[in-house]
Amino acid sequence: MSNNNILEPVVNAFVDVIALVCKVIFKTGDKFDIEEFFRICKLKNSIEEHPVLYKTIQLEDGVKYLMTIPQSLSLKDFQKYQDALAQQTNTNITMSFENGFIEIVSTTAKDELKKLYPYENIRAGHISKGINIPLGYSLNQLETIKLFSNPHSYIVGSTGGGKSICIKSILTYLVVNFSEDELSLYLGDLKYVELSLFKHCKIVKEFRTSVEDVTDMIRDLLDETEERYRTFESVGVTCIQDYNRKFSNKKMKYQILVVEEIVNLLQDGKKRAMKMLKRLISISRSAGLFVIVTTQRPSADVLDVIVKANISNRIVFHTESSKDSVIALDEEGAENLDIPGRGILKIGSKKVVFQGFYIEDEEVKRLIKPYLKTEIKAHHSHYNKAYDKKVNDKKIERKTEDNKESARNVKDLSFLDKL
Ligand SMILES: Nc1ncnc2c1ncn2[C@@H]1O[C@H](COP(=O)(O)OP(=O)(O)OP(=O)(O)O)[C@@H](O)[C@H]1O
Ligand SMILES: [Mg+2]
Repeated sequence: MSNNNILEPVVNAFVDVIALVCKVIFKTGDKFDIEEFFRICKLKNSIEEHPVLYKTIQLEDGVKYLMTIPQSLSLKDFQKYQDALAQQTNTNITMSFENGFIEIVSTTAKDELKKLYPYENIRAGHISKGINIPLGYSLNQLETIKLFSNPHSYIVGSTGGGKSICIKSILTYLVVNFSEDELSLYLGDLKYVELSLFKHCKIVKEFRTSVEDVTDMIRDLLDETEERYRTFESVGVTCIQDYNRKFSNKKMKYQILVVEEIVNLLQDGKKRAMKMLKRLISISRSAGLFVIVTTQRPSADVLDVIVKANISNRIVFHTESSKDSVIALDEEGAENLDIPGRGILKIGSKKVVFQGFYIEDEEVKRLIKPYLKTEIKAHHSHYNKAYDKKVNDKKIERKTEDNKESARNVKDLSFLDKL
């Protein structure tokens, strides 16, 4: 008998013992023991309380666990083990806080992305709190952009890539899930048709369609952002979160500026709008203003160094050429995306391929209907007149202000650097 043969039964017995230990610990082949998993991770509070499994719910493609939260622990404490849990179970894991429990959803990993994920697939309950917006699915998980950590986004892609469907699913999500008391949307639609579905929603504060009007809107937002920083300085805080904690009875609203097709902002010979937009994205984060822009043509003068340095969510659908992909993503690849709605999401250096949620205009209209301004529902035509008058009045006001423009360009904003 060779040495190898002598050792074989010993090695086999050892492997069997390890398998048995794993089986006992996690009950593999039977049911995953999630309580034991968190016990081994030592997830507990100072009085040694571990999370307890309250309920298990079987899903079509996985399982949902409702776990109790020991006092003093929070969703964040659970999320530290999200990756370990995904690897241990070989499933996709999402965690959220729901009705006093931590809801952990474990779904089987997909081999390949579907060509269509209807918007109705979004289960808002699985998305953690904050202004977090679902975009679609990657092979591993639901992909979201989290504006509190990565405030600004651009959506790039050649015609038919899926930009408008993406922005419509984003706006529908915001309209349905956020109230006008917490969030205001400012829409600049330089293609006119795309975003008009949303113009009468309660949380939509402005809807502009010409370069001139969008320029005015950006300038107003820049003014307001600067004003917010002055207010922060005067009350000794540095960001909207701290301000809202301090003045919970007069909270500032978060704001999202969306501009469809920013290339049009270059039409203005002096590129005033583009300059102001760049200034806005470089200073607005702490003031609670987030920017989402789209463009068909990722030219280097649109997505230049300043824009790229300040925009961390890059959502890129099919591009005409590898050169365009390099401009949008800093690498080739987007030119090979060949399914409408298939995109690459790059956040910082992390990159993932995803399939965006699909939504049709009829579905958008049905979902946003409860969130329209009441006067729209009752007196549609009357409101339009009032709205047009408001825009006109603003234009006249602007004409006068334009003369003061050179003055405001040299306005001292050095206090911003101290923040
Ligand atoms: N997420 C998606 N899932 C499935 N199909 C999609 C998706 N997004 C877009 N499509 C398909 O591609 C078509 C074009 O999409 P979309 O209008 O969003 O393109 P776009 O990038 O806005 O193009 P353009 O630059 O011409 O405005 C849609 O009408 C739809 O048929
Ligand atoms: Mg479009």
